[in-house]
Order: sequence, then structure tokens, then C-alpha cells
Amino acid sequence: EYYNERYRPQFHFSPEEKWMNDPNGLVYHKGVYHLFYQYYPEDIVWGPMHWGHATSKDLVVWEHKSIALFPDANGYIFSGSAVVDFDNTSKLGSDKAPPLVAIFTYHDAVAKKEGKERYETQGVAYSLDNGETWSKYDGNPVIGNPGEKDFRDPKVFWNEKTKAWSMLLVAVDHLQIWSSDNLLQWEKVSEFGKEQGAHGGVWECPDMFKLVVEETNEEKWVLLISINPGAPNGGSGTQYFVGDFDGETITSDQKNPRWIDWGTDNYAGVTYNNTPDNDRIFIGWMSNWNYANKTPTQKWRSAMTLPRKLSLRKIQGDYELINYPLENLNELLKTPEERTIIVESGAEETISFENFNQTEIRFTTKARDFHLTFKNKLNERLMLTMDGDKKQFLVDRSLSGKTDFEENFGGIQQMPITNLPAGQFEVRLFLDRSSIEIFINKGQYVMTAQFFPNENYTDLSIKNTGVGKLSLGDFKISTVKDIW
Ligand code: FRU
Repeated sequence: EYYNERYRPQFHFSPEEKWMNDPNGLVYHKGVYHLFYQYYPEDIVWGPMHWGHATSKDLVVWEHKSIALFPDANGYIFSGSAVVDFDNTSKLGSDKAPPLVAIFTYHDAVAKKEGKERYETQGVAYSLDNGETWSKYDGNPVIGNPGEKDFRDPKVFWNEKTKAWSMLLVAVDHLQIWSSDNLLQWEKVSEFGKEQGAHGGVWECPDMFKLVVEETNEEKWVLLISINPGAPNGGSGTQYFVGDFDGETITSDQKNPRWIDWGTDNYAGVTYNNTPDNDRIFIGWMSNWNYANKTPTQKWRSAMTLPRKLSLRKIQGDYELINYPLENLNELLKTPEERTIIVESGAEETISFENFNQTEIRFTTKARDFHLTFKNKLNERLMLTMDGDKKQFLVDRSLSGKTDFEENFGGIQQMPITNLPAGQFEVRLFLDRSSIEIFINKGQYVMTAQFFPNENYTDLSIKNTGVGKLSLGDFKISTVKDIW
């Protein structure tokens, strides 16, 4: 089947139809990457949450599956995670056939409406047929509400230090860590974050994992916390902390927030459990609660980011969390059109291409001062600016097409690039109908944003706003094949 409606991404995951938000239950099992997601099958706005389901063998091509989890008497099925219970610690499977176990939040909308505060609890479901069908555990909920209004988004992982399961849970403004031997009985072990990081909104969708700092043997823990609102460019965003974890308690001396992505449209992202080679693979929801319910699509709403590999790099003394598209994606790239781009100071050069809205564009440069503008025949424009004086990168979608569905959709998005090393760096862009993902210096600086032009962009102007010659090396434009 071919999903080809207006604005429908051609190489990003989107649901067949209706509303989608957060990725859930990311787990690799027996050659298959599972992607569950917050889903409302009745409408293209948020509603009673289910877990939708899709699978992939390579994280490039996806197959839509039937709905995995439906709301029940305990509430809607909010975000959560999934693990392979290899030793059948839960006894929900058998030793020969260990179960897949999903741990999610129950959101009791009726209790909330009645003004009660304890409306979020945690539940468990399991699959004995490799994720095809799911049953709820009959002792749900497994964690009751301790008196926190927002108490959700369990991320469970196997803890090598304690030889037990750990669960990350967010409670309004901080993280809690819980522990269990069997995925069913849990106790709280520690808390983190009341005084650290960004607190402009509710903490949501935690994740945590160990990474080896590139080119060293040093190990550090990285904690992801989504917050809404309070992101640097408004609304929803995902911050990270770098620190240590002794199996029970997180320590991080990081005071200021750091962001995995500075664009407006990468939220609630989490990583896969149980990947081959221990790769840390991240997928985010490519939208923002400021306008997620209003974007001008019909039939379906919103998509996921490209899957990205996470790594830690020490750059000029700072641990930077790097996120960069998986190499698998390269198989979708058609033979590139290559150019040599040299533009005099103050001048502008324009490249025409049949359709920029399904391309990968990349180049390397030393330049710190240029504008890139994608344009269509209607003179709608998506503008990117590298500003060396201010050490920032900007995305301006104010004239990009449809913007009036939300008052602040057109604001200029800023990303400080203060720690970009001197010398050559790569710029890599992915445009897919109604989204752009920008990777600077191989994932050191990243921005993701939606836009809704009334026609595809067919021109790219490159303007030299610096003093010397602007030279963009290895400049390539590739059409990206569709995955459907
Ligand atoms: C994040 C979030 C989660 C919650 C889910 C509800 O976008 O608000 O905290 O579990 O969405 O759909």
C-alpha cells in the first residue's frame, strides 16, 4: 500500500491513519524492531490512548500491525516501555518461551474528571507470541499512585549492578527509580532532579543508559527527560543529563539544561532495549504539544523522527550527546547530484531541483556565515542561517507555507553552537514532505522541525553572508526513496 496524501512523510514512520504521539515499548526481539506508539484510532486529535504497533527488520522499512493495547477499566494506556523477560522472572511466560513484557501508565480519565488526584498508576501486559498479541496482567495496576498528579511513562531496563529490573518513572518535577525482581512487585529506591535541569514544565518520558565516551574507555550515564512546556524554542523538548549511576542513585553535577535537539519537533524520544551490539537507538515523536492537534494534515496526524544512533563525544572539555541517523538509511538514497559550490562574499547562488521535499542534502565547510533558503513557485520559503558572530544556527519557518493553524508556529528557532570545533564540519539535512532534520558536525548540533508548504520546494539559494569566499565541499543532493 502506498501512503501518499499531502504532507505524508515518505521515509519516516507515520500511522496508517488517525492520531499518533509518543513512541512506546521500543524493543528488539528475534530480528524484529518493535515500535509501539500512543494511538487514538477514532480521530486525528488526541483521545483515549491505545498502543499502536509497527515492526521493522532494519528500522528503515516499517510494517503496520494491529493495535496492541486497548484502554480498560483501569484507564487509557499511556506511554511506557517493553523488555524481553529472558529468565521468565515474571512467570508470565515459560522458561522455554520467555515473554515480552510491556510496562505502561494507566491514566484514569474518569477519576481525573471527578477531581481526584491519584489517577495515574502503572500496569503490565505480556505477549507470548513475539509481540503479535498482548494480554494484560490480571494483578494490574502493579504500582499504585503515591499522591503525585503526574506519575508516568515507565522505562524499564535490566540493571547489571543490582541484577534486577530498574524502572524510571517521572513524578511531576523529578525522576524516581524503582526496582523489582519480577517486573510485578516494585519498590522505590531513589529520586533525582528536583533541583537540576529545566523545570519549565512537567517531566515526561524518561530514559537512561550507559555510553562509552568515543575514543576512550570512559563510561558515563545519560538520562533523557522530556519536558512540556519549557523547551528552548517553545513547548515540548527533550533535555539530557550526563552523570554516573551506581545501580541505585544518579549523580550529575550538571546544573543547566542541555538539549538533544533544538528544533520544535522532537519530543518524548526514547531508546531501544535489547539491540544487537548494544547500539543506543533513539526515536522521537516529530511534533510539539503547542500545535500537535492542529497541524494541517487530514486522515492521519504526525510522524516519528528518523531513528538515530546516540553516542557520547568529549568536545572541548564537554560531554556532548550526539544523535545521528543510522547508516541503514543510506540504502534509501538515490544516486546524488553533485555540485561544486563557491559563492563570493555577499553573493547568492540558486540551485534548482525537481523536488527538494524528499531529499538528503549534505556538504562540508569551514564557513560560519551563510543562509540556505528553500523556495517554491509560490515564493514560500524555509530559511536556515548559520551565524558565526552570534555563534548560532537559526530555522525560520515563518514564510514556509501554512502557519496560521497556530499563532506561534512561525517563530524563529535558535540553536547556540558555541562548542562547535574550529575547522571543517559536516551539514546534513533531510527533508521529507513536511519536516526537516538538520545535523551539524555529525550530530553534535541537531534541529528537527515541521513545515507545511502549499507546493514542494524547487529552489535552494545559498547566500554568502561572510567576508571571504564561501565554499561548500562534497555538496550532494539525493532523492530519498519512499519506504511504503
Ligand atoms: C508525552 C505524554 C506522556 C503521556 C502521553 C499521553 O507526550 O504526555 O507523558 O504518557 O504523552 O499520550
